[in-house]
This record gives sequence, C-alpha cells and structure tokens, in this order.
Amino acid sequence: MIFEMDCEIKLCLVIIFLFSSATNCVFGEPQVPCLFIFGDSLSDSGNNNDESTDAKVNYKPYGIDFPSGPTGRFTNGRTSVDILGDLLGFDHYIPPYANTNGADIVQGVNYASGAAGIRNETGTHLGQDISMGMQLEHHRDIVSQIAKKVGSEEVQQHLNKCLYYVNIGSNDYLNNYFLPEYYPSNGKYNADQYAVALVEEHSTYLKALHDLGARKFSLIGLGTIGCVPHEMIRHGKKLCVEEESKAALLFNDKLKALVDRFNEELPDAKFIFINTAIMKDDSLKFDMMNLICCKVGSNGQCIPNEEPCKDRKMHPFFDEFHPTEVLNNATANMAYSSPDPAFVYPMDISHLVKL
Ligand SMILES: *[C@@H]1O[C@H](CO)[C@@H](O)[C@H](O)[C@H]1NC(C)=O
Ligand SMILES: *[C@@H]1O[C@H](CO)[C@@H](O)[C@H](O)[C@H]1NC(C)=O
Repeated sequence: MIFEMDCEIKLCLVIIFLFSSATNCVFGEPQVPCLFIFGDSLSDSGNNNDESTDAKVNYKPYGIDFPSGPTGRFTNGRTSVDILGDLLGFDHYIPPYANTNGADIVQGVNYASGAAGIRNETGTHLGQDISMGMQLEHHRDIVSQIAKKVGSEEVQQHLNKCLYYVNIGSNDYLNNYFLPEYYPSNGKYNADQYAVALVEEHSTYLKALHDLGARKFSLIGLGTIGCVPHEMIRHGKKLCVEEESKAALLFNDKLKALVDRFNEELPDAKFIFINTAIMKDDSLKFDMMNLICCKVGSNGQCIPNEEPCKDRKMHPFFDEFHPTEVLNNATANMAYSSPDPAFVYPMDISHLVKL
C-alpha cells in the first residue's frame, strides 16, 4: 500500500516536471523575470504624456509603425529597449510608470522621461521632466508595491534577478551643457570636469539602485551626439559637431571606468557598458542626403499630423533627435548579442542575463 502510493507520487512528479518544462518551451518564459528601465526620450514609452512639457510626442506621425499608434514613444515604431524586451522573450511591452493600470509591475516598469538627465535641472527649459533622481524615487514606490504582492521575504530575491537598463546622459549635454543661454554648467566646468561630475552623480543613483536590490546592470553609453541632425543644423553645418561628440566620449570613458570600479566594489552585482558611439551595422543602407523622416518644427520634433516619409527604413532619424526603428533595432540586437568587447564590455546582455 505504502509502496504503491510512493510510486504514484513519483509518477505525479514526473508528469508535473514534464508539464512545466513543456510550458517553458511552448510559451517561452522571458530570460529574466523582470526588466526595469531608466532613461530619457530614447526609452520613454509615455511617461511625459501628462507632464507640462514640450518634450512629449503622443501624436501622429509618431508611432506610425507601432501597433497601437502614438504612445509617447519618440520614434516611428519600437524603441531599442522595446526591441531588447522582445529579444529577452517578454510577450508584452514594459509599462510606463505613468500608466501601469492593469499591467503586471512584478515584471518591470519603465521610468524613462523625454528631456530628462542625470542632473535635476536638465531639460527643464522645455517644461517638467522626470530626472534620474525622481525615476529612482518612482522605483522605490514600485518596489514597495511589489513587496506587497510577492511578500517582503521574496521581494529581494525577485529584484536580484531582474535586468536594470539605464540609458541616460545625452540631455545633460544637449539640453544643459551645450545650451549656455539656459544653464550655467558650461561656465562652471570644462568638458572633462563635467563628465567627472556627471558620472559621480550617476554613481550615487546606481548605488542607491543596488541598495534597492538591483544586481544586473546594463549601462548604455552616449552616442555621437554632435552627429544628431538638430545639432548639425543648429550649428549651420553638414558635418558632425566635433566638440559635442568629444564631450560625450569623455562621459563614456568615465562610465566604462565606473563599470570596472563597481564590478570590483560590488562583487554580488554585475555591470556592463554598451558603447553605442561605436556602433556600426554595414547591412543598414540609408539615404545620407535625407537623414530625417518627418517634417519638423523649430524644436526638432515632428509637426503634428504631417505625413512622414514613406520608406522609414531609408532614414536613420525619425525627427531631428531620435533614431528610427530600423536603427533602434540594430542597436538593440548588438547590445543583446555581440562578440566585440569594444561594443559590449565586458559582455553582452544575453550573457549578463544568464549569470
Ligand atoms: C535631485 O532630485 C532628487 C529627487 O527629487 C533629490 O533627492 C536630490 O537631492 C536632488 N539633487 C540635487 C543635487 O539637487
Ligand atoms: C533587426 O535586426 C536583426 C539583426 O541585425 C535582423 O536580423 C532583423 O531583420 C532586423 N529586423 C528589422 C525589423 O529591421
């Protein structure tokens, strides 16, 4: 009798095991249980929609290639981190903090805000934005909500397994340091001192994020911001504004050094640096005479309801600041998987999530 029961239990366990591995296969669990996103307009998916700011784009033609149309994403389709979420196996987009209604926050939240930076004042000449410090406060709020859902014992274990994607800093240059008519930082710091100050402030936020349970950090470096069309046009040039791109490279150098420092000081965590400034994808073919897809206003954003270009794949930028989905796709794919340590340091995201 006892022997028989034992057999039945074993059989039952085998069936449960088969069933659970089958569900893993069929429905494709994401490679991490959760993804939290910090950043600016490159990652914003609607957090600025209800802010009083010029830096919001929940109108056509933005979202023309996104299934639900304009959402507040600053591009024609998906952002890089949307595509990264797809590559990681998420079956839904990570909800913006401003609207988590009906979403499962346990699987992550997107705090990114257009025009925001590491410094609190960054971008504020355009109106309100949600700086890195505020984004961290929002995360603190979400962590306490998650603790109520999964239990205060389990919450740290859960948060340790998530991927934390941080892509911020461009606006500390484009909407701060290089706008001396609005911001005093340019007079206070030379480019090297400014990069040191920014990365130092960033490090305190990242440390606080670690204190909140983050262990897998993907830090995205700045692109060659002097090659953003708005900057070239603003300077009356057809070439990249070297001074601006050089300043961004100084920031990147110091961010990469911070990755080394944190990997030493915080052995329970892993930080990686994604060097988007050196991204090259030879399969992309663009119309270099027409970098931009939509008709823009003086603020560099698309004019509402104007027809954009027909072939979005031929243009690297959608408006004067923001890449099209095809370029976002290249960035996301390389960040997720690349053998080149100059681009993904010291490893790519597909390896980070497996740790
Ligand atoms: C920036 O804002 C955050 C969040 O509101 C605040 O905690 C922090 O003290 C501010 N930092 C500075 C330098 O003012
Ligand atoms: C995205 O990039 C990957 C890898 O380069 C490529 O295979 C895929 O076709 C691209 N998808 C789109 C929609 O451009």
